[in-house]
This record gives sequence, C-alpha cells and structure tokens, in this order.
Amino acid sequence: ENVKKGGFEHYMLKEIYEQPQVFYNTMMGITPDQIPPELKQSDEVTVVACGSSYHTGLIFKYLLESICRIPVRAELGSEFKYFTPPIKGLVMVITQSGETADTLAALKKAKAYNCPTLAITNVLGSTVTRMADHTLFMRAGPEISVAATKSFIAQLAVLMQIANLLHDGDLTGVLTHANSVIEEALLTDTKKAVEICSPAEHIFYVGRGLFYPIALEGALKMKEISYIHAEGYAAGELKHGPFALLSPQTPVVALCSPGNTYPVMVSNIKEMKARGAPIIAIGVNGDLELSEIVDVFIPIPESHELVQVLATSVVLQMLAYHTAVALNRDIDKPRNLAKSVTVE
Ligand code: G6P
Repeated sequence: ENVKKGGFEHYMLKEIYEQPQVFYNTMMGITPDQIPPELKQSDEVTVVACGSSYHTGLIFKYLLESICRIPVRAELGSEFKYFTPPIKGLVMVITQSGETADTLAALKKAKAYNCPTLAITNVLGSTVTRMADHTLFMRAGPEISVAATKSFIAQLAVLMQIANLLHDGDLTGVLTHANSVIEEALLTDTKKAVEICSPAEHIFYVGRGLFYPIALEGALKMKEISYIHAEGYAAGELKHGPFALLSPQTPVVALCSPGNTYPVMVSNIKEMKARGAPIIAIGVNGDLELSEIVDVFIPIPESHELVQVLATSVVLQMLAYHTAVALNRDIDKPRNLAKSVTVE
C-alpha cells in the first residue's frame, strides 16, 4: 500500500503532485484530427456531467463562449434526464469514470434526440466509450482517492485544448508551459489558511467568471474531505443572502486574479471584511493592494488567465487536503461517498 502511494501519506496528495505531468500529457494527447467534425460545425453545444466533472463543464462554457463565441449550455446529469431542454447540436458528457449513472442516462436521452455525442473520460473501455459517437481521453491514469484532483486538471486540459484547437491554436504556447506554473503552485504554503479554516463550521468560496466554477470546486473539495460546510458562490451574489451569515467565524476564500473583475472583487472583499469575515485571498504574486486588505494572502505566479485557473485549483485542493489532515479525516475514503456513483 505504501509503495503504491509512492512515499506520499495519501493517494490524494500523490495525485495532486502528478498534476503537472497529467496536464501536459493530456493536453498534448488531444490533436486536431481528434476533434469531432460535429463540434466544429455546432452553433450550440450542451455539456452534461455530475460532481467535479460538472464544474469543468461550467468552465468549458466560459471558455467556448468567450474564446470561440459558441453558446454552451452546462447541465447536471441528474436534471437533464428528466428535464431535457430543447437541444440541437453536439451533446458532450464529461465523466472521469465513464460509469456515472446520471451522466449515462443523459447521454442515452441525447441519443434518443438524435444529437451527435462526444464523451470525455479517463477510462478506456468504460461504458460511456461504448455509447458515445466520439471519445476524447484524459491521460490522468487511475485515480484512487475518492475526491477528484488530477482528473479535474486532466478534464481542464482536454477542454482548454479543444477551445484552443477550435480557435486556430493560438493558446498552444500558453498551454504547453502551464505545467511549470502548476509545479510552482505545488510549493504553496497553506499553513496560515489551514489555521483559519480547520476550526470553522462554514466557509464561503467566491470568484467571478472562470473563477466562479473554481470556487464551486474548491468548496466541494473542502466539503468532501474535511466535512466542513463550504459553499461556492459567484462573488456578486453574496450580498443577496449569504451576507447575513458573515461573521468572524465564517472565513471567505476569495479568488481574485487580475482582469476586468479585479476592482469589483476588491470592493466585495472590503465589504465582507467590514462584516468581520476573515478573508483568505488567492491572487497573483506581488499584488500588494490585495495582500494589505486580507488576513491571509496566497500568491500564485502571474501568468495567463487560464493558467491562473489551473494554479488556483491546485492551491484549493491543497487547502482542502491540509485542512482535512489537521482534522484527522479519512482523506482517501471520505464517509458516505463513492468514487463512482452507478445508481441514479
Ligand atoms: C462521484 C465522485 C466525484 C465525481 C462524481 C462524478 O461523486 O466522488 O469525485 O466528480 O462522482 O464522477 P465522474 O466519474 O462521472 O466524473
């Protein structure tokens, strides 16, 4: 068992550390000839998934809509089967295991509507590969820990590369160098943030744009393995309810990278601070403005926005991991959860 963990205390940590290589291998493994013609021709795309895979679907929506100007609808597998929207164009399912019942049911439904289908999965020969018209593989290798980490990054590698290839490959340079930034993110010290998070009963995660699904995923990681109630929110929505819950006992993890929403994020952070919430902010290295107003500032390397998304995800995985270690949780096998949910 210890040999299989490669010297790491848990599979989750080992899998977190595999991510620079996994991102690179997966991204390089997706070549232009693999992109289904139906995706190139679609004037709308529907993405269906569950759990962490749904969060990468939401990121894909932002990517394809902003980079390629193709409208994307992201749906939960469990909803799509029963409340199928009027669909035309390609239906894409994202599933690490290739076996999630809700995702497979949604795929079946899409086929019944005669939509062309594409599956993104990590498992060769899984059920989804036999059902979908086309398959693109992540190259994450087997993921043992129940909480998805390297498969999340591998999905992002596939999805970012799809957007890149549909947009004439102009992000190739950015994506081929992303692994070195992910590597750097692995050196992040989360100790002070863990001290704030581990005694908390509730934690909010906030972000905007691409960082909104990352906030959802960060909160999901924290819930899954530390059992702390964590909620991901679009930063602008906090004032429509959750503000009532802010207090010195409710830390907020704010994802605050440079870009057009930076000023409004900073003002949101000031509002949350004014209500007494301790703020842990993840932003780019050297951001003095941000580091001065927050309780804990976690810097990531300054890089392309897509690469910051990857680096931030890795930092949030480590924050959840180290918080769960501090609380002595069963990291690789959290209570009541399964790696693959094969019932509806
Ligand atoms: C389970 C796992 C999650 C995963 C979800 C979807 O809940 O614990 O980590 O994100 O299923 O799994 P899939 O294999 O379809 O990506």
